Amino acid sequence: MASATEATHAREHWGSRVGLILAMAGNAVGLGNFLRFPVQAANNGGGTFMIPYFISFILLGIPLMWMEWGVGRYGGRFGFATLPRMFDRLWRNPIAKYLGVLGIIMPLIVFIYYTVVVGWLLGFSFFSLTGAYFGEGATGVADYLASFQNIREGSGGWVGFLFFGIVLAVIVSVLSRGISKGIEKLALFGMPILFLFGLVIMIRVLTLPETAVGSPGEGLALLWTPEWSALNDASIWLAAAGQVFFTLSLGMGSIHAYASYLSEDDDITLTGLTTASTNEFAEVILGGTIAIPAAVTFFGISGLAAVSGTYDLGIVAMGVVFQNLPGGLIWGQLLAFMWFFLLFIAGITSSVALATPAMAFLQEEFGIQRATVAKILGGLALLLGFANIWWLAGGFLDEWDYWAGTFGLVVVAFIEVMIVRFAFGIDNFWVELHHGADLRVSNVFKFILTWVTPLFLTLLLGWWGYTEALPKLMMDGVASDVERSTRWLSRGFMAALVITVLVLIHRAWQRNPGVSIPPSDTREDFEVAR
Ligand code: PHE
Repeated sequence: MASATEATHAREHWGSRVGLILAMAGNAVGLGNFLRFPVQAANNGGGTFMIPYFISFILLGIPLMWMEWGVGRYGGRFGFATLPRMFDRLWRNPIAKYLGVLGIIMPLIVFIYYTVVVGWLLGFSFFSLTGAYFGEGATGVADYLASFQNIREGSGGWVGFLFFGIVLAVIVSVLSRGISKGIEKLALFGMPILFLFGLVIMIRVLTLPETAVGSPGEGLALLWTPEWSALNDASIWLAAAGQVFFTLSLGMGSIHAYASYLSEDDDITLTGLTTASTNEFAEVILGGTIAIPAAVTFFGISGLAAVSGTYDLGIVAMGVVFQNLPGGLIWGQLLAFMWFFLLFIAGITSSVALATPAMAFLQEEFGIQRATVAKILGGLALLLGFANIWWLAGGFLDEWDYWAGTFGLVVVAFIEVMIVRFAFGIDNFWVELHHGADLRVSNVFKFILTWVTPLFLTLLLGWWGYTEALPKLMMDGVASDVERSTRWLSRGFMAALVITVLVLIHRAWQRNPGVSIPPSDTREDFEVAR
């Protein structure tokens, strides 16, 4: 029976537990694991980075993962997949829903530039097979990538744009098919290929013979020799915590959206932990064993130190690595294809996850057909993706990535933890989390969630905001006026999107105010207690 709080349409659900796990793993395993992680680790001292990384995983990653699954499934019970509805439910305060705007807008913004990058990767998979960039050294491959990214001069950028269009077409078609027939099918098909390709490439890298400059073992040692000396460097902690957020898709609204399609009695403790572990396997084992050891083997430790940007290692350096594999060019081309195609799969399964909150919002609140919403989002991404490419050199994408894809995650997680902690209550949450649970979570984690996670997040937000976000906001170090205006333009676009969605939220609540009728089921005890 539909009460006034519930959406009136029939709600979709995941088809099977394996499907759900793979879809959630597809959500989390992305470019963050294979491009971002190795660069973050290499730039922050390898073994030094791994210590705060694992600490952040345990104190932030796992507890927040459970929280997002719990809040998401809870929202799904009322028929909603988005943070505005969830926050409104957890905290009966008129501003709660507006805070949820971030959970729609941030994944949407990331979706747009993320798919642009996925387009480059699809292009690189294709041109690995044709061998187009083979024969180029590091500078050559870097130029090749740059030509792909540059739509203003030459035709390469338009070729890149074409691949972006293909990627969007695939995404629109997957999203149009819905949760179980679209997203889940994609994951059931794609994730096994991703792991298979990853294992093959990992074994190839590990068995590489030593060269004059380095060996795979030296690369591994870099990552796995704990180094305690630089641990008092706050910037390493920020980088590590930021990586944990990004790679696990936390602080976005995307995990919530996926979890909302669970059935209300489905387990979330064990399944949530399983997907988080799957992501870590893909990240530290596959992601950590491929790019860094390969690059160290062919460029040496000093060569690795020269890597700074996100694409330098996974795209440029790897593009050179594959040309130097023993066994001839054919092997190199095939393995290069496998690598870039793996990245493409990782990217596309995360892209659909990023699009899901906005998809659900328009469907649930305004009754727009799924296929129509998918096309609207595809069109929007094409348009704004173009803006990202056009103004790439001016830092347009960089602004989006920083505010919506880095700093914003901590902001959302902070709001969410505070709402659960102070409005909903940890005890209630613990009951909710364990409903239908296959795994009883140790009370140690309850303690962590009550005290440590909020404190850690507060420190993170404060310190990060002060040392990094504030200077970023003031554009410290951006000397050129052109770049400043491009960055302002980029922010203007984001602001316009935020305002639009705020207005839509306002409208949505006029249509359905979400009055507080407690649902009648076994968890009514805490609903009534509130
Ligand atoms: N976790 C994904 C990655 O590692 C990115 C992502 C973030 C996807 C948030 C969905 C939501 O690339």
